[in-house]
Parts: sequence; C-alpha cells; structure tokens
Amino acid sequence: MRPVKLNALITGNVGGDPLSAAEYIARGGFAALEKAARLEPEAVIAEIKKAKLLGRGGAAYPAGNKWEHLLRIPERPKYIVCNADEGEPGTFKDRLILDKLPMKLLEGIIIAGFVFRAKAAYIYVRGEYRGIQKRLIKAIENAGAAGFAGKNILGTGFDFDIHVISGAGAYVCGENSALLNSTEGTVGRPRIKPPHLAEAGLFLLPTLVNNVETFANIPAIVGMGGEAYLRIGHPDSGGTKLVCLSGHSRNRGVFEIPLGGVTLREAIHDPEIGGGIAGGKNLKFFHLGGQSGAIGGPDQLDTVYSYTDLKKAGLSVGSGAVVVMDESVSIIEYLKGVTEFFIHESCGKCVPCREGNRQVYHILRKLSSPGAAAAGDLDTLRRLIRAMSDASFCGLGQTATAALNSAWKHFRTEFEANVRSAGAT
Ligand SMILES: Cc1cc2nc3c(=O)[nH]c(=O)nc-3n(C[C@H](O)[C@H](O)[C@H](O)COP(=O)(O)O)c2cc1C
Ligand code: SF4
Repeated sequence: MRPVKLNALITGNVGGDPLSAAEYIARGGFAALEKAARLEPEAVIAEIKKAKLLGRGGAAYPAGNKWEHLLRIPERPKYIVCNADEGEPGTFKDRLILDKLPMKLLEGIIIAGFVFRAKAAYIYVRGEYRGIQKRLIKAIENAGAAGFAGKNILGTGFDFDIHVISGAGAYVCGENSALLNSTEGTVGRPRIKPPHLAEAGLFLLPTLVNNVETFANIPAIVGMGGEAYLRIGHPDSGGTKLVCLSGHSRNRGVFEIPLGGVTLREAIHDPEIGGGIAGGKNLKFFHLGGQSGAIGGPDQLDTVYSYTDLKKAGLSVGSGAVVVMDESVSIIEYLKGVTEFFIHESCGKCVPCREGNRQVYHILRKLSSPGAAAAGDLDTLRRLIRAMSDASFCGLGQTATAALNSAWKHFRTEFEANVRSAGAT
C-alpha cells in the first residue's frame, strides 16, 4: 500500500488550553477574523466559493452558495446558527472540535457574523454533550474578554453575542428547520420548505445554518485563500474531512483526511488510519455517512474518499461516519438495529416514516427467523423502501432505508436465505 498522507488543517491546532483565547492567538488564531473584518462580505464569500467547501453536516450543500443566498436577502436582522446536534450514530467529529478547538469554531462563526452583520449566533449543542456546553460558554466568555465577541468587536462597532442552546436528545432536531423550532422553544419537528431558512429561519428571520465542521473550516479558507484550500482537497470539494472510524476497525477515532487523498481501502486498512479489522477477521461491509447512509462491500474498497467518487459508487460522505463490520455480523441483524434507531427517532409527523419503519422492522424480524417470511415479504420490503424515500416529509424518513436499499444489492442471498419456499406452510 502507498504511504498515506494525512492532513491537519483543522486538527493541527489541538493542544494547550482549548478555552484560552491568548493561547489560540499565540498559535495564529483570530488572524483570519481580523482579515475578514477588513474585507467586503462579497470578498469573503468569493473565497468560500473558490474553496468549494461543501457543508459537513451531511447534505454536502455548497457553503458559498448558501452564504451568497443569505447575503442577497435585504431583510434584517439576520441570525447565525451552528448545528452541533451531532445525533448521527457513529459520528463524533463535531465533539472533537467543540471540545478541543472551540476557539476555531467561534472564529468561523464570528466571521459569518461579520459577513452578514448578524444580530447574534446560536450554537445548538447535542443534549448529551452537557460538559462540552459548559466549556463552550467559558470559551465564548474568554473570546469576548479578548475583544473577539460581544460588544464592539475589534473596535469596529459591531456587536455580536453567541448563545449556547442545549438539545434534549432527539435526532430529528439535527434537521435544520426542526433545530430552529427547538431553539425557539416549540416542538422540534421539521418545517415545510420553502420558504428556505435564508428567508424565514430563526424567529422567521433570515438565517444561516451550518454544521460545526463547516464553520471550523472558514478560518483556514479566509487565511490561506480559497484556491490554496481547494488544492488540499479534491477538485470538486476542497479541504479535508474529519472521518469517524468505529465498529470492528482496529483503530477507532477521528482522522482528518484530505478529500480525494485516500481510498476506502486506505481509510480502513492503512496503519495510520483504520489499521484493518480487529481480531484479524475479514471485512464484511462498511456503513458510510451515518445510519441514514449507504452500506458498501469489499468490492468497493478502491473507491476514492471524495464526495464525487463516493456518489458515483452509490455511497456518500454524509456525516463522515465509517462503521466497519467484520464477517461475523449478520446483515439482517445489523439492519434491525438501524431500523430500531429510526423507529425510536421518527417524530411521528408523517405516516410513511412513522408506520413505514415499523413495517420494515416487522419484515426484517421475519427474515431473521428460518421459514417465517414468504417471497411476498421481500416485494413488500422493496415497495416500502420506495414509498418511504419518496413520500416521507423530511430527510429522516427519506433516508431511513438507504442502508437497507444498498445492503439488498450486496447481500441479496442473505435476505433470501430464510424465506420459505413457495408451497411450504
Ligand atoms: C434527521 C436529520 C438529522 C440531521 N442531523 C444533523 C446534525 O446532527 N448535525 C448537522 O450538522 N446536520 C444535521 N442534519 C443536516 C441539517 O439539516 C443541515 O443540512 C446542516 O446543518 C447544514 O449545515 P451544512 O450545510 O454546514 O452541512 C440532519 C438532517 C436530518 C434530515
Ligand atoms: S419523515 Fe416525517 S415522521 Fe419522520 S421525522 Fe420527518 S417529519 Fe417526522
């Protein structure tokens, strides 16, 4: 295997006291903010567009386009919202930034504040990250005391407060409109779109919602310029991606890899990254991008880890999760676990998701017991997959069967193994 080149564009600054503004400044922190404060908003957005930064929250929407759209909206005040809900199983990369690099996150958020002359920012943090929420509040206080947040930032007359909001453990609140409802104190269920959040977001005012990792990339882009940033990654999407390896991977944790710089084989097997399969077993499959992402098989290991290449292979970067499973795992049992998660997290607003996930689970349970399922159950499963992805109200229901759908292509014989033959009772 060729030597793998990791990159520390985002994680390079880990160390020392993460809550200290002085230490962050000593390592070059807040220089990008000072630069952005002197630039026209259009110039900052032009660099983000050149960088081809795709949103790191899962949907991979081009950040520059989102920022440009909001800039064009004349209505005021505008809000900045950081999605730190991180509810996707197998995903723990925002936690690293929140815990070890909060100043970098704040710098990205404050740059956005300057660009839109926004009224305030809200960081919506996963409820289980209780300790991190307290530390984040301290980091905001320290950034304010150093003149980078709060009143009259950098003597420019710009006031910008940053608030921390705690989630309460609902995965659906990571969906950006449900997140805004929850921030406003109403029920955390998704809104109908359009209107887009850039037009009617928080308190129905123009709002930017970006993921933690997306914001954490902004200082690097402003600092080095969009073209240099693009060169680090893939021609279609610049920079690096924080990838979370878990499951039966020998090395588990967060790894920062240049987009387009490694294949899935290298991500899973290279000693510098995943290090192969624990216990010397063989790889059976990997589940990319979170529970709502697709499952891939060993025949796809040579796919390059980039948004474009994974998409071509029917996979996705998603949240950056890479759950590795060895040969001992039954695909049906694994999918039962995935479906249980969606049954638990469905908000119940729409029938295809609320009832569909239960029906999927019911069929998977039959498929896991010899002779309990008939051939017609597999047809029903296929129809459920289509109906749920076409007719669910939000991304949760639309993607709940992505793992199932992709697993069907790789492991069809396992689906069929327990189906009773025609005529048997
Ligand atoms: C059910 C569901 C859960 C989501 N959870 C998260 C999450 O925990 N964190 C996140 O950043 N985005 C999450 N998203 C995506 C957000 O809706 C949105 O696309 C993202 O915050 C936009 O930021 P980005 O463009 O920087 O990626 C979720 C989407 C859905 C449908
Ligand atoms: S798809 Fe429907 S039921 Fe499922 S979480 Fe979204 S709105 Fe709620």
